[in-house]
Amino acid sequence: MTPEEVRLASDPAETAMVHSVGGAPAVIGTVIHGDRRGRELGFPTANLALADGDRIEDGVWAADVYVGNTRHIAAASVGRRPTFYDADGVRLLEPFLLDFDGDLYGKTIVVHLRERIRPQRRFESLVALIQQMRRDVEEVRRWAQTARSLPLRSRATLPAGTR
Ligand SMILES: Cc1cc2nc3c(=O)[nH]c(=O)nc-3n(C[C@H](O)[C@H](O)[C@H](O)COP(=O)(O)O)c2cc1C
Repeated sequence: MTPEEVRLASDPAETAMVHSVGGAPAVIGTVIHGDRRGRELGFPTANLALADGDRIEDGVWAADVYVGNTRHIAAASVGRRPTFYDADGVRLLEPFLLDFDGDLYGKTIVVHLRERIRPQRRFESLVALIQQMRRDVEEVRRWAQTARSLPLRSRATLPAGTR
């Protein structure tokens, strides 16, 4: 955990706010620095500190991330990164934005967790974690091609049977 993560996780005012939007968790918060390992692994993430007891299920999710008015598709990890930390790790929400290259540090973003695709796991090697993250991204890309990924309001206007 970085000193900033420790500070943020121990200050409830600094953790992200969670709402339910269309029955799926939507998290709004300010992006903090992680361990900067994500960039080395090829999967830089925009990290938000989560409070314990927010009822979001740990795991990897297909997500929409709103930066200003722009919607990005993301593969988002929720949990304590068991590959690197024991149960004392801070709970983070870490979306990896597909097809995005920019620094979101300090920006306020909205992360709408749309579908959970798997639990968090502890990997025996970095290579195994990277391979799994590649598969996660492919799965999220496939999800993005389906009607299930449409923003919830437009989905309601689709003809019955295609929702
Ligand atoms: C799509 C995705 C899936 C992930 N799955 C796991 C996981 O199953 N287990 C785990 O320990 N960490 C997982 N992570 C978190 C990574 O370990 C973390 O993003 C990486 O170590 C970089 O951390 P940093 O942002 O602090 O630099 C996942 C991250 C992403 C983006």
